[in-house]
Amino acid sequence: LTTNQISFVILGASGDLAKRKIYPSLLRLYIDGELPEKFNVIGYARSSLTDEDVKAKIEPFIDEQDKDSPFFDHLKYIQGSYDKSSDFENLNKKLLEIEGDQPSNRIFYLSLPPNVTADPSKGFNRIVIEKPFGRDLKTFHSLSKSLNSSFTDEETYRIDHFVGKEVVQNIYATRFANPTFSRAWDSESIENIQIIFKEKIDLEGRGGYFDEYGMIRDVMQNHLMQILAMVTMDEPSSNSNIVQEKIKLLKRVKLSEQDVVAAQYQGYNTDSSVKKGTTTETFGAIVAHVENDRWKNVPIYMKAGKALDEKVLQVIVKFKSTSTLFADAPGQELVFRIQPQESIYLNTVSKVAGISNKLNKVLMKHSYEKDLPDAYVRLLRDVMGGDKTNFITEEEINVCWQVFDNLLHNLDNVKGTIAQYEKGSSGPSEEIALANKYNIDLLV
Ligand code: BG6
Repeated sequence: LTTNQISFVILGASGDLAKRKIYPSLLRLYIDGELPEKFNVIGYARSSLTDEDVKAKIEPFIDEQDKDSPFFDHLKYIQGSYDKSSDFENLNKKLLEIEGDQPSNRIFYLSLPPNVTADPSKGFNRIVIEKPFGRDLKTFHSLSKSLNSSFTDEETYRIDHFVGKEVVQNIYATRFANPTFSRAWDSESIENIQIIFKEKIDLEGRGGYFDEYGMIRDVMQNHLMQILAMVTMDEPSSNSNIVQEKIKLLKRVKLSEQDVVAAQYQGYNTDSSVKKGTTTETFGAIVAHVENDRWKNVPIYMKAGKALDEKVLQVIVKFKSTSTLFADAPGQELVFRIQPQESIYLNTVSKVAGISNKLNKVLMKHSYEKDLPDAYVRLLRDVMGGDKTNFITEEEINVCWQVFDNLLHNLDNVKGTIAQYEKGSSGPSEEIALANKYNIDLLV
């Protein structure tokens, strides 16, 4: 990691992501001794805020004992717009004042509302950008064009925070470093794969953004597709080949319009932040197939929904039961429990102890004992160190949009009604029919 002075500039510092994730993750890096001695965290946004206001916004998201950390002496807030070059010149001037005559590396985090495009001036070293990377293939291309006219690919870090989650990071090691799994990782042994993301929370005031995008664009086309690629791609020969393998895999993903369930929780369309009569989905379930030899006829069930009965993100790899002696054996599941209660476990079949000859399920489990750092801590550290292994390339996003573009446009064009589900329920009843069609036993 660099020992030079470093300045983090958070564009969109008054927003949700900044207070919940970016500032607290930088604080964590500071506490862990991962920041150079001289560092500055400059928040920039349109709202008129003092440095103290910014601190007060962050406080609910950090530990009590860290509230007086010297980290906060390094924070500065600057007000400005996103469309005036004079404001960016002012930002640059203030940055130079803060940095003094020591050379400084700069990282710009664009945590901006989707309708804002920054027009930053020259001299930026690295920029970090978050989804939404457009809302379809076309808008993604125009976003890329405008970004590419200001920044080189080398300078651009496209973040997908699901990739930084500890258990997601463990997918490669579990798959490739364990011959038991790597040899059985195909259609001969695997019956189906389920990638499940359930949230209890509803809109939480994000209707302005969410209603334009919907659940499939919000988490499936990006986060869950990254997980899908990591779970199903061929083994890369080295770290530098990961992206190529991911792209190769993603190009093979096929969705069918018959295999989609889109639904909305009851009451969503009465939220004051959404359009009247909106049919935006807050729940999506899709069966994907990877059209290559390894995954022939293996359904990959992805689902994501808000306002459901529980919060969970997990991947279930369901192995076929192949025994003739134990024809009733239920098969095995390998579960990557990404959050909460992070763990990786294997449901195995065993004989019930004693004189019984019955079978039961026995768990082999790896749980994490210590508190795991937020995904952003790892990813921001990677930006500082210039390591792009865990960042998303333009080509991957392009391919993911290609996979989803038609399906999403067709969903957009469905006028009138959308299936409904009750808030706090396990989802719409329609999804059961979809799962049954592929003989998928949904565990959550
Ligand atoms: C974001 C989505 O990317 O991920 C949100 O926009 C979602 O809608 C969030 O709530 C979930 O992330 P995490 O890490 O808090 O589970």
